[in-house]
Amino acid sequence: MLSEAAWEALAQAARTAAANAYCPYSRFAVGAAVQCRDGRVFTGCNVENASFGLTVCAERNAIFQAVAAGARDIVAVAVCTPTSEPATPCGACRQVMAEFSVGDVLCVGTSGTARRYSVEQLLPHPFDLS
Ligand code: THU
Repeated sequence: MLSEAAWEALAQAARTAAANAYCPYSRFAVGAAVQCRDGRVFTGCNVENASFGLTVCAERNAIFQAVAAGARDIVAVAVCTPTSEPATPCGACRQVMAEFSVGDVLCVGTSGTARRYSVEQLLPHPFDLS
C-alpha cells in the first residue's frame, strides 16, 4: 500500500502525463501513472486516431510502458481525467489492470476530488482463460 505522499506524487505524474494527450477528436485529455514495486513509475496518455477504434487509453499506454520495460509488478495506478468528479477507467483498461494484478487505482478529477478503488471492486469477474 502506498503512503499518502506517494499517492499524491503518482497523481501529479498522471496530471503531467495528460499534457501530452493526443485527443483532437474528443478533446478529453487523460493521464495515467503506474507505480511499480521496484520503485519505477511509468506514465501514459490517451492517443487517438482518425480511425476512432484505434485509440488507446492513457491507462493501457502507461501499463504497457511498464511491462515493455520489464516492470510487471504494478502496485498502483493513478488516472487523471478532465472532469470535475473523478471518472473511472473503461472496461478494457480494467481487464488489463486485472492481467497484471494491479492493486489499487486512484481516480483524480479537476475539482481536487480523488477516489480510490481496488481493481477487484472495478472488475469483480475478469476474463480468465483457466
Ligand atoms: N480514455 C482514456 O484514456 N481512459 C479511459 O479509461 C476512458 C477513456 C480516453 C479515450 C479517448 O481518447 C477519450 O478518453 C474519450 O473517450
